[in-house]
Amino acid sequence: MRLGLTLSLLFFITNSWAQTKLTFYEHIEPLIAKNCTGCHRPGGIGPFSLQTYQEVSKRSEFVAKVTQIRYMPPFPADRSFQHYANERGLTDEEIALIQQWVAQGSVEGKKSKEQKLAKGKERDASFVSMTMRQPDLVLKMQNAFTVPNTGVEEFRYFHIPTGLTEDVMVEAIEFLPGNRKVVHHSRVMVDTSGRMAGLEGMHGADPKLAEFQKIPMADEFLYGWVPGNDRIQFPDGVAKKIKAHSNLILYMHYSPSATFQTDQSEIRLYYTRKPVEREVQSLILHEQHITNPPFLIRANQKASFFMSLGPLKEDISAISILPHMHYLGKTFKSFGITPDGDLAPFIKIDNWDFNWQMTYQFEKLVKVPRGTVILAEAAYDNTEENLLNPFKPARDVGFGWNTTSEMMEMVIYYVPYRTGDENRLQVTSTK
Ligand code: HEC
Repeated sequence: MRLGLTLSLLFFITNSWAQTKLTFYEHIEPLIAKNCTGCHRPGGIGPFSLQTYQEVSKRSEFVAKVTQIRYMPPFPADRSFQHYANERGLTDEEIALIQQWVAQGSVEGKKSKEQKLAKGKERDASFVSMTMRQPDLVLKMQNAFTVPNTGVEEFRYFHIPTGLTEDVMVEAIEFLPGNRKVVHHSRVMVDTSGRMAGLEGMHGADPKLAEFQKIPMADEFLYGWVPGNDRIQFPDGVAKKIKAHSNLILYMHYSPSATFQTDQSEIRLYYTRKPVEREVQSLILHEQHITNPPFLIRANQKASFFMSLGPLKEDISAISILPHMHYLGKTFKSFGITPDGDLAPFIKIDNWDFNWQMTYQFEKLVKVPRGTVILAEAAYDNTEENLLNPFKPARDVGFGWNTTSEMMEMVIYYVPYRTGDENRLQVTSTK
């Protein structure tokens, strides 16, 4: 009965589309502008521009394909498990609309008045800061880095002194890539030990990294960035403390380039002007929370690891989550189990992609009651079937910061819970 109803509804929808001639300007352009051109524009990280009818229609079959298999737009987290303020993706109906438009021969149609007026406006390829005010502190890489023309990706660490002589409270953090053609992803950490200067310029596969990874960090992930995810802004009255004499550690992943490219990326901090009612704190789960150690993935094997933390001693409101693994990672899932046996969903990634790591900011703050146990599970594939395996033949792989080792880590930003938090929408710069 229900199936019949769904089928006839579907038939009705497709049939009504079949009768309407779909046009680029009326039906497709808005979807592409919202989901694709953030990256597919001149100077963007996408391999070609998708801003005009000509650019889209000449690849329309390809566009239909990558959207149908949900390869584009890239957004690894499962949106039926949890919603995020910075999520991106097409609905089933939108995907069907693209298919139908292509099947009908990719008709151009006519621009609306607004589309004619908008010409050029949001087409500006330069980065426009979404915040209305100037940043209070801009921290640039000390030296420009030259990405070689070898066509090989680069992983590099940079050390940025803050010069702060007193603690500051930050309400927003922005990452501004110096060169969008090559900056693929980045991770910002905070060190207060003063012992990390030797990291400057170090390669992500350098064995010397092991010495640095022993030094405890004040913040293992202040912020994680991928294209299209330019800022984290905390809710009103909530701020993150950055301590005096901190140094930022920047970990950069550069895409392969056939030409020399220079990059000098920067981090922008916005100090809060409002009274700070709650300070952002972090729950960090890492290899010491693994319940089935040792964290060792044998050559030619697949393995799963589990982490657990808790029970929590207070009610908290989770703001964001950042899961982290390297190339052998395949799936990642994390949730809390409350004392009543309820599920607090955080994240579910069925197709881990090293290239699309980000800080996922929950659409609404997630209430995690006292007594909750936080769990995470991750699966790794160290066989040669995993095309991303850095070693052929496969080798045993253990914990380490460098990209040829593995990690299992997760950072949740949170504040102590307050009534009504679970209804508070968070804002981001993504949409
Ligand atoms: C966050 C950035 C980003 C967004 C948003 C994005 N793309 Fe891409 N796209 C890329 C990058 C980077 C590549 C090249 C690497 C790859 O194929 O994964 C790519 C590749 C492609 C390709 C070529 C795939 C191949 O196999 O060579 C197509 C087609 C494409 N994108 C279409 C789209 C469409 C259509 C949308 C919107 C529905 C979209 N993209 C949204 C970044 C993006």
